[in-house]
Amino acid sequence: MYQLTYHSVAVPSLVPGDLDDILEESRTRNALRDVTGCLIYHNKRFVQILEGGKIDVLRIYGKIIGDRRHHKVTLLWEGPVNRRYFEEWNMAFYRIDNGSNVNEDEQTFRHNMRLLSDFSDKSTSSMLSFWATVRKLLGGS
Ligand SMILES: Cc1cc2nc3c(=O)[nH]c(=O)nc-3n(C[C@H](O)[C@H](O)[C@H](O)COP(=O)(O)O)c2cc1C
Repeated sequence: MYQLTYHSVAVPSLVPGDLDDILEESRTRNALRDVTGCLIYHNKRFVQILEGGKIDVLRIYGKIIGDRRHHKVTLLWEGPVNRRYFEEWNMAFYRIDNGSNVNEDEQTFRHNMRLLSDFSDKSTSSMLSFWATVRKLLGGS
């Protein structure tokens, strides 16, 4: 099982309909390749985790890098893992808005998002704890 996390910046012209398109495409294509994961959209930034067979994950990531709906695609972590983190989802989606009424998990998440861009510690454990928070926000265990 191979896992990859990157972050990127949405182009200024991105509209909500683009997000729907991206998700629909992702879910269909990932299902065909047995790839799972999660896409986060916050403050015009994306963070995505892809997990599955190495060849499939890298092939999809190759497409994503060239996608004109975002830029500054930066690889944060990639490597083999023992199990999937988002096995129930071909592409879970989490969008967080800038409201003031947020719970503690969301605050942690936002804090992590801010740190993510200049993560100095790109270890497996820091990545996995980031995604564990996201999974909790999505209502998983
Ligand atoms: C932020 C973002 C995330 C994406 N995630 C996926 C994904 O998980 N799986 C996927 O197949 N395509 C994803 N795409 C779309 C690909 O970049 C690409 O458009 C799609 O794979 C179709 O490529 P093709 O028409 O060259 O085959 C994503 C695009 C963006 C901008």
